[in-house]
Amino acid sequence: MTRIAIVEGDGIGREVIPVAAAALHFLRPDWEYVHVELGFERWRRTGTALDDMDLETLSSCDAVLFGAVSSAPNGEYASVVLRLRRALALYANIRPVMGEGVDIVVVRENSEGLYAGRERIEADRACTERVITRSGTERIARVACNIAAKRRKLTIGHKANVLAADRFFLEIARGVASGEGMPVDDAFIDALCLDVLRRPGRHDVILVENMFGDILSDVAAFHVGGLGLLPSANLGDRHALFEPVHGSAPDIAGRGIANPVAALRCAAMLLDHLGDTGSALRLGTAIDRVMACGVLTPDLGGTVTTLEFGAAVLADL
Ligand code: NAI
Ligand code: MG
Repeated sequence: MTRIAIVEGDGIGREVIPVAAAALHFLRPDWEYVHVELGFERWRRTGTALDDMDLETLSSCDAVLFGAVSSAPNGEYASVVLRLRRALALYANIRPVMGEGVDIVVVRENSEGLYAGRERIEADRACTERVITRSGTERIARVACNIAAKRRKLTIGHKANVLAADRFFLEIARGVASGEGMPVDDAFIDALCLDVLRRPGRHDVILVENMFGDILSDVAAFHVGGLGLLPSANLGDRHALFEPVHGSAPDIAGRGIANPVAALRCAAMLLDHLGDTGSALRLGTAIDRVMACGVLTPDLGGTVTTLEFGAAVLADL
């Protein structure tokens, strides 16, 4: 039986994930749902934010729906999200940015680059190594090609005019694309950021290494009205984790006003990933219709609560 892990996490994760989980329950009552508690609140209660048993449970599931985890105020525990990405080998971060005149998918390498953890601080200098490997680049390029094959085009964002690691990344990614018969163009990442802002309609699938992807996806998000709307997928060869791009939002947590759209779109991506494209489409259409009726949370200028928005989506379904 298909097993889904539900991780609410902290802050508004505890408000938006129940809404997304309710949509999943409604569309797939035949699936099994396993709740896993991890993050800051768990750490405060038990002294552990995430343990090996949790990782085993998450590994045993077909997919994870994840809210957000607050980082430790004084670094008491290592980043839960980075640990999860590493333990589940989630090397591809897929961030679709969809809105009026914008339909972009950022395919971000999720395990290497500046976030590979190779750092040292000395008395008078600090150094973070930017690690790009052949195998890491090949596997993320294959993911990007697979996504682009069902869409319009593929662009590689890089800084190959300055950085040797980017010439390496670009050459390998181009090789994978040509091997897959996928036409590809490329652009310098800085110019690409500006062009995504000025002419979003010209862009489709964009392949980038880790930190460029982190920045570019937030840049692209400018077009779609805020963090409350953006879902993402973290994919590996054996595991998949879906999480809103936003964090635990302590400034609004507990008030019941968080926008659940990002979490709901994560549920739609999860359904699609597990092959239920019909339910994914139904959920996406329901979200669009509810929003088009002016049912909006305060971040988008509306007055409905998280739960009211969720109820409207369920009613539409
Ligand atoms: P954040 O994304 O939680 O919030 C940024 C701003 O956007 C806030 O003003 C918030 O109210 C608003 N916002 C975010 N999601 C919203 C939603 N669904 N509806 C309405 N408004 C929304 O980022 P911030 O404040 O930098 O981080 C808060 C905590 O979350 C930190 O502890 C951070 O480490 C953690 N975090 C966790 C992530 C994860 O678990 N993947 C990702 C990003 C941050
Ligand atoms: Mg970011």
